[in-house]
Amino acid sequence: MLSQLLYKKGIESVVLERKTRDYVLGRIRAGILEVGFVGLMREAGVSERMDKEGLVHDGAVISFGEEQFGINFKAHTGSNIVVYGQTEVTRDLYDAREAAGGKIVFSVENVVIHDADCDAPFVTYDIDGAEQHVTCDYVAGCDGFHGVSRQTIPLEVRQEFEKVYPFGWLGVLSQTPPVHKELIYASSERGFALCSMRNDKLSRYYIQCSLSDSPDDWTDAAFWKELKRRIPAEHAAKLVTGPSIEKSIAPLRSFVTEPMRWGRLFLCGDAAHIVPPTGAKGLNTAASDIHYLYHGLVDYYQSGDGEGLERYSEKALARVWKAERFSWWMTNLLHRFPDQSRFDLKMQKAEFEFLRENAGAQMVMAQNYVGLPY
Ligand code: PHB
Repeated sequence: MLSQLLYKKGIESVVLERKTRDYVLGRIRAGILEVGFVGLMREAGVSERMDKEGLVHDGAVISFGEEQFGINFKAHTGSNIVVYGQTEVTRDLYDAREAAGGKIVFSVENVVIHDADCDAPFVTYDIDGAEQHVTCDYVAGCDGFHGVSRQTIPLEVRQEFEKVYPFGWLGVLSQTPPVHKELIYASSERGFALCSMRNDKLSRYYIQCSLSDSPDDWTDAAFWKELKRRIPAEHAAKLVTGPSIEKSIAPLRSFVTEPMRWGRLFLCGDAAHIVPPTGAKGLNTAASDIHYLYHGLVDYYQSGDGEGLERYSEKALARVWKAERFSWWMTNLLHRFPDQSRFDLKMQKAEFEFLRENAGAQMVMAQNYVGLPY
């Protein structure tokens, strides 16, 4: 995304990708785009398919056992969200970069960022057994939680903040019509469940699972049975089941590293922060980082104004922490924790009822869900 945005402003970049194009486009990732993300797609000139195929959602359903209510994001904020898979976003961006002659190097190994705290950084990597060298003005570390960018920042400069949750999400993709036209976030005695989708014929479902589970422990039949037990009976009765196309488990974690900039290296997205998927903020928070970095770079190259780059970490982190708060809040509201007391359960129920009855609380949720302003 950053590469494509910069290209539109005449700023050159090289993208280094550790995996192959097919590997990246074969992964099932997030599916919900905030209003700000949709704006970046338009600015990058890659919104055509999203505008045609993306599903505009004005609200979502939240349930607690058999009780449920809808939150209308549109009524509270004037905005909506768009259901369009991250994999499709990536495909559109690859196509646009390739059509414009952009440079994306796949299957690179041994990426090393050199002299990031000096005026002339450079990056080396191996491809087909030969070392390559890229000189550059700046390095955008968009290489995920396990990438080299964060590790390049010396430990004495970095501070890390982390919370690990005692459960994971088991996700299934199936060629079946979605159970409901809106997403359903469900809290039940047996744990959390989420009914989502990619399009009218493709559903994405998740259930909270134990960290010791492996996807092979779950047959399709066992998954569908468990999902049905966690959502209100009205929806369970309508659920269309079918063979899973993909089944995977993701642990839940909140993580932030500070600062997000070291010299000429800027950390973006999962390289700097992780949220649990409840609330769909992962991809969207990466996008807000890109917004700040993009504008900082454009200001610098177009008018020599370096303030946006100087303040990148501060601006990005201010928004990151709010997305962290929202994802943590939603995770705590909707999951069953192994060590949860009867009191804790009453707190969750009271929070659910307050949200159901209070327009102010719904507005707060809606503002966060559609995305806080950049
Ligand atoms: C998804 O569709 O993959 C999805 C939707 C909402 C979430 C997380 C994941 O909160």
